[in-house]
Amino acid sequence: MSILIKNIKELLQVRDTNISVVKGKDMKILPSIKNAYLLIDHDTIVDYGSMDTIQDLNAEKVIDATGKIVLPTWCDSHTHIVYAGNREQEFVDRINGLSYEDIANRGGGILNSAEKLQNTSEENLYLQSAERLKKVISLGTGAIEIKSGYGLTIDGELKMLRVIKRLKKEFPVKVRATLLAAHAIPKEFKDNKTAFVNLVIDKMIPEVAKEKLATYIDVFCEKGYFDLEDTERILKAGKEHGLIPKIHVNQFNAFGGVDVGVKHQALSVDHLEEMNQDDIDVLKNSDTMPVALPSCSYFLSIPYTPARQIIDAGLPLALATDYNPGSTPSGNMNFVISTACIKMKMTPEEAINAATINGAYAMGIENMYGSITKGKKANLIITKQIPSYGFLPYAFGDNNIDQVIINGQTI
Ligand code: NIG
Ligand code: FE
Repeated sequence: MSILIKNIKELLQVRDTNISVVKGKDMKILPSIKNAYLLIDHDTIVDYGSMDTIQDLNAEKVIDATGKIVLPTWCDSHTHIVYAGNREQEFVDRINGLSYEDIANRGGGILNSAEKLQNTSEENLYLQSAERLKKVISLGTGAIEIKSGYGLTIDGELKMLRVIKRLKKEFPVKVRATLLAAHAIPKEFKDNKTAFVNLVIDKMIPEVAKEKLATYIDVFCEKGYFDLEDTERILKAGKEHGLIPKIHVNQFNAFGGVDVGVKHQALSVDHLEEMNQDDIDVLKNSDTMPVALPSCSYFLSIPYTPARQIIDAGLPLALATDYNPGSTPSGNMNFVISTACIKMKMTPEEAINAATINGAYAMGIENMYGSITKGKKANLIITKQIPSYGFLPYAFGDNNIDQVIINGQTI
């Protein structure tokens, strides 16, 4: 099936030659065509240009986008959408004065979700996760990374990863899976963390790699969770089994995790609410993408990733949701973009670059997603009639999406 979208008020993120990442000052530039058309054949973008130069194009379906903006769908490079139940009681506990750390220390937090997951059937876990995926697609997400990490046992982690595999099969969006076995220290290993790290290295990584259930290896590198040495050991083991590092660092404390990530050629280092100059310097000499998760900062009332410091140092930055039951029960990339502009002083151009092409890079799919480029997948957002693209972050909390197209099909 071919679709012609015509009279587009502005077509955003048009990149003629395939670029993989946008950095520093270039992040302020969002190439676009005003009064544009775009042609889709099957699942692929095959042509676009100004309406002034449009030829006689034969398409089976025509969409009139008068007054509307068209852009690539969001690439959400960091989520934990496969989880069981919710943690709204911990939310209330935090309102009443407990911290995220206090809750974890009394056996709540990630361990609470792990217990819920253990008591949920794989079918039910799939159904809950599929609901979340459906919702974020309707909010404009066309590619998503999903982590394990609430299993904390081999069986639990495999269950989560099989659910991710099924989501990948049942949904048209691009899905990438990450093994985050080292997400928290299970109760049984409270006094013997090394034994748990050994289990991750000796059993979980080989099994997951053998079953080809994940592309990436992640670790929650944080005080009270996994230290630099644990992180290095796990990343090394993952790499030996063909898994690419992509890690949680500097959420609450900066103590060298970024350096470890870069040293092991991590594709991305995520969170970065706490950053020092060394972290910035080490990223400058790397291909590692820094990823900010502003909805997490919002929900936990912790600092925002210093986007200005990062971008002004000439680095790239990606934006993702971190959708999970504990620190970010929201998968809305539109809110992420608004919050990045409002709280992190990113311009709309920077935020859109961070949520499309740089997000695609952070999940290794930039050759097919993240920009309007001939030959890339036809994954598109058509907005409602809005005055300009700056209106998207400006009108925070509003849904300004009219249609989402995934693989050339209207959702
Ligand atoms: O990215 N920080 C570690 N992991 C998640 C939160 C997990 C949870 O609280 O369930 C995050 O914020
Ligand atoms: Fe996370």
